[in-house]
Amino acid sequence: MHDSRLWAIDTPNTSYVVAVDEHDRLRGLHWGPKLSPEQALALLDLPASPFRPVVGREPRFDLGAGSAFQYGHNGLQVRFSDGTRDLELVFAEAIEGDGDLTFVFTDRHYPLEVRTRYRSHPGSDVIERTLALRNTGIEPIEVVRADSATWVVPGLDTPRLSQLHGEWGAETQLTRTTIPYGETVIGSRRGITSHQANPWVAIDDGEATETSGPVWSTALAWSGTWRITVEKGPTGSVVVSAGFGHDPIAIRLGGGETLETPIAAGLHTTGGFASAASAWHDYALAHVLPHPDEVRPVLYNSWEATEFDFTAEDQMRLADRAAAMGCELFVMDDGWFGARVNDRAGLGDWTPNPERFPDGLGPLIKHVHGCGMRFGIWVEPEMVNPDSDLYRAHPDWVYHQPHRRRTEARQQLVLNLARPDVADYLHARLDELLSENAIDFVKWDMNRPFTEAGWPDSDDPDRLWFDHTRNLYAILDRLRADHPNLRIESCSSGGGRVDFGILRRTDQVWTSDNTDAVDRIAIQDGFAQVYPARVMGAWVTDSPNPLTRREVPLDFRFHVAMAGVLAVGGDLRIWSDEDQARGAELVADYKRIREAVQLGRRHPLRAGAVTGVQYDRGDRTVVLVWRRARSFGYPDPLLKLHGLDPDARYRDERTGRVHHGAILAAHGLDAGLDPADYASAMIELTRLP
Ligand code: DGJ
Repeated sequence: MHDSRLWAIDTPNTSYVVAVDEHDRLRGLHWGPKLSPEQALALLDLPASPFRPVVGREPRFDLGAGSAFQYGHNGLQVRFSDGTRDLELVFAEAIEGDGDLTFVFTDRHYPLEVRTRYRSHPGSDVIERTLALRNTGIEPIEVVRADSATWVVPGLDTPRLSQLHGEWGAETQLTRTTIPYGETVIGSRRGITSHQANPWVAIDDGEATETSGPVWSTALAWSGTWRITVEKGPTGSVVVSAGFGHDPIAIRLGGGETLETPIAAGLHTTGGFASAASAWHDYALAHVLPHPDEVRPVLYNSWEATEFDFTAEDQMRLADRAAAMGCELFVMDDGWFGARVNDRAGLGDWTPNPERFPDGLGPLIKHVHGCGMRFGIWVEPEMVNPDSDLYRAHPDWVYHQPHRRRTEARQQLVLNLARPDVADYLHARLDELLSENAIDFVKWDMNRPFTEAGWPDSDDPDRLWFDHTRNLYAILDRLRADHPNLRIESCSSGGGRVDFGILRRTDQVWTSDNTDAVDRIAIQDGFAQVYPARVMGAWVTDSPNPLTRREVPLDFRFHVAMAGVLAVGGDLRIWSDEDQARGAELVADYKRIREAVQLGRRHPLRAGAVTGVQYDRGDRTVVLVWRRARSFGYPDPLLKLHGLDPDARYRDERTGRVHHGAILAAHGLDAGLDPADYASAMIELTRLP
């Protein structure tokens, strides 16, 4: 196809076809079902061929910069040192590698090289796109915007957008809306991925369901500021651009420098939203997570039990009870270091608080290990309390602007991690902490967004928005390499830093500070549109819930948390013996099903007021089901299961009853829920040989 300057990026079930037109513009011609080479070539004959650009008629370019008549959003914008803004790119070559296709363009006049790289992986329909800009001259070039990808979605009747929005305590809320004409922009200007929006969107024709219809989705692997632009043109066509950075910051590309963008991943699927989600989960497990085959241990976290008010003995008592319940990893949360006995002081001083740990962390770690659990610890390295030794020594190490106040949030300021000396210092402190103590797990928190994000000593201060995240990644990568047994949880006041960038170097995430089981059902459902259960931390905490004051029975709390990486986060010192014993049974139940949950295929379930999830792995099917309240005393409807073999039979391990796959799919399963409010169940089905 090269004579025609047409290329197809093929995945097992899809093709993404691009062409370089006679004006050297890269155009997206097809993103959908797999095409043969002959079929792909036939795209050039289509009447609406993008090879006949008409002024003002929505020309669509795969590489943001298109023609002078492009009035829509532009994913690639630079400003040369003489003030010239428009790009005129000349196609140089296409380089094909193993699952890799790179297009090289150079500017017609200015010393700028642009490489767009597509990458696919065996067994996955996800296509990764990145952009690399190289300044081949001497004068700096200002990069105003460099989106990693601009995906061209085929024409749809009523295109609809699915997105994840939220806030602290209410992350990953799923909404689907008809796309308006013009540009819809979601993103973060906070320096972190954010609670308010997650870098993922899905587009469908307005008619997809959980189980049917084509879906086009994209996710950006970046944990700093970002934007995704969904633009619907006058005739209804849709393009989606995803990239790092935000308006109005720009990055300076010095002579000889290269700017690499993060990965924007695109995915076309058929089979509805559940199939799209499941393809993202498979991609995360196979190509993103560092230890995809490991199932995550049952964790205990001390935060909700003690907050800042504890001694080493309190932690040991909690550890004893957590171990008795079957927990496998004990995580001591905030409050163990420096003068950190409340949130007003000590952040930045990563040495054990001398009153709480007069002999260091050793005795507690020994105790936890002696209980047969791994030991984890909370840190928030990117932060500092003004009342800390670190801030007193280096007040210039935080983001700040001259003559401007330093706005505190939770009495803390953000360290300028973009500074190489700050990044080196933090790496050294953490490396020391991990080298001197037998720490198996780190919960890496980040509790406030940037404000007054300045860097007075720098001649290119906007860089901080990019270099903060890059240096964060570099520290995590280095720590992982030097401490190979270390596992890391990404946290940002709950789920403020969940994305495929951070997941490449962490093992799980803290989904939300909201541990109310009822609210969690919605949060977890949104989370599962993109990210697998294998990374979704879910604690069982006290009732009434500390945040919402809702009272929910223990089984319901456990069954909801069992849909992710089960953990316990309640104050076990006050749990009744009965709850402790039931908790231990439920933890044991979870250990039987966790491989299916964490590594299996997920199907969301709904029947009236009953909702749940089904996870399939090998011959095992696990169903977790919840119902808050019945109405009018009506019996619960049967729950139709998905993806089962209609000709196979499945044994319900609770009752020993054998069901036909065809009946479970067409009519459903009786979950046998208690008629009372807050009923829940875990059902294990085994496919019979
Ligand atoms: C916010 C986290 O989300 C909580 O789980 C806890 O670690 C606190 N920070 C501690 O300050």
